[in-house]
Amino acid sequence: MELITDPVAWRDAMDAARRDGHQVGLVPTMGALHAGHLSLIRRARADCGVVAVTNYVNPLQFGAGEDLAAYPRDLEGDARAAESVGADVMFAPSVREMWPEEPRTTIHVGGISEVLDGASRPGHFDGVATIVAKLLALAGRCWAYFGEKDFQQLAVIRRLVDDLSLPVFVIGCPIVRTTEGLALSSRNAYLTPDELAVAPALYWSLLAGKRAVEDDGETDPAAVVDRIEEALGREPRFELDYAAVVDPATFDVPGRIETPVRLLVAARLGRARLIDNLPASLPGSAE
Ligand code: PAF
Repeated sequence: MELITDPVAWRDAMDAARRDGHQVGLVPTMGALHAGHLSLIRRARADCGVVAVTNYVNPLQFGAGEDLAAYPRDLEGDARAAESVGADVMFAPSVREMWPEEPRTTIHVGGISEVLDGASRPGHFDGVATIVAKLLALAGRCWAYFGEKDFQQLAVIRRLVDDLSLPVFVIGCPIVRTTEGLALSSRNAYLTPDELAVAPALYWSLLAGKRAVEDDGETDPAAVVDRIEEALGREPRFELDYAAVVDPATFDVPGRIETPVRLLVAARLGRARLIDNLPASLPGSAE
């Protein structure tokens, strides 16, 4: 697998892949690759002629006091892991290579970026949208793979791509979980063994919300949120940030659940802030 750090060389490599007749599959990551990332790379491998992985810890999406300095980094391990599942090329620029000058441009996706994680982490989605716009601009025409674990991020990116008519087909890929249900995340590395043992309760709380909709036919979003909060409240080590029921595309809260919705939850457990989500639909209104 080829490793590239220079943005111009990366753009040239993507252009060359297309000139050779290949569909480019792009998998943007911040490294610390785990089985969730590898599932994206495998999917890109199955779909595309050239699989291109980006590995860049993006300072713009970390707020003051967040874990930018502590964020796990292991370029050699990432390169080995990506290659083992079929990546052809990895782009891992330094911050200076990515932005030779301090950027003056910020992309803000209104609405979707401002609620839930956007409200809890001001500026986070502007940082994501700005770097993703730059990564997509450098890559050019491609299929881009993102995990549904960051479901709000995926909605922001879909909207960004639509609004700016970028030549990119965005593919959301399913969350990869441990056997107990914990969604894989680079931030799980912050959990102690004791915390890891209770962490799946976040997923179980979403299952409680899903059962409320799908088994009990609950149509009141607030009642579903109560079910999620009640379930998570049984594990006192979690400090809830939010639980929510939203329209999966707009992130608006429906007055009544009629069409498929997304259930989302965010909570702190020890040093880690964890997020998770699940789809839910009333019987007979599949997603
Ligand atoms: O999901 C991530 O790893 C990051 O937010 C992304 C999309 C690579 C942008 O830095």
